[in-house]
Amino acid sequence: MQPIYQDLSRFRVQDGFRERSGLVVLAWQIVQATLFRLSPQPLYGWRRFLLSAFGAKVGQGVIIRPSARVTYPWKVTLGDHCWIGDDAELYSLGPITVGAHAVVSQRSYICAGTHDYEDITFPLVARPVVIEAEAWVATGCFVAPGVTVGRGAIVAATSTVTRDVPPGMIVAGAPAQVLRERPVP
Ligand SMILES: CC(C)(COP(=O)(O)OP(=O)(O)OC[C@H]1O[C@@H](n2cnc3c(N)ncnc32)[C@H](O)[C@@H]1OP(=O)(O)O)[C@@H](O)C(=O)NCCC(=O)NCCS
Repeated sequence: MQPIYQDLSRFRVQDGFRERSGLVVLAWQIVQATLFRLSPQPLYGWRRFLLSAFGAKVGQGVIIRPSARVTYPWKVTLGDHCWIGDDAELYSLGPITVGAHAVVSQRSYICAGTHDYEDITFPLVARPVVIEAEAWVATGCFVAPGVTVGRGAIVAATSTVTRDVPPGMIVAGAPAQVLRERPVP
């Protein structure tokens, strides 16, 4: 078959896209599957250390569960006291920032990469995602490439966020729509 939309035989990861050699990427994948994933839940400091050793910027008191996954730690910034829940995924083809005191709950997928589908070679495209301080992305959400979730905003469980979420708003649904303002306690 002669492809007309996307020819994956011509796909290549662009030079420099990963910002580390293939060897470092492989080393991280092995560490993530073993030392990180198999670590007992309370060893948060150990997992912070592993992420930092692979170039992540990790703040104080960060809580990240052993089953959370990070694609390229060197493109990730985790603010002080943020939480990354069970089976959450930081797909950090581009930079991902999770602000101080922000939460990414279980099984949420923070997606900082896509493909240029108008190019037949289907190249990767990195777009940064920012979860600002004190925001809460509840369980099972998808946050699309390029999105910023504003400070203190709440993304309700199972929502799909394709546009920026203004600070202090509660949004829900697919695509997520504003429900109301989050009260300041
Ligand atoms: C966002 C959230 C905190 C809002 O809670 P709340 O203030 O009690 O809101 P309500 O349940 O009163 O719902 C308000 C409206 O939003 C809607 N809504 C709430 N959550 C929704 C969701 N996930 N998707 C779509 N709509 C939602 C409700 O149907 C309701 O609509 P209505 O006014 O037309 O009836 C809550 O829905 C939520 O997602 N919690 C996260 C749970 C979770 O992830 N737990 C595990 C992590 S620790």
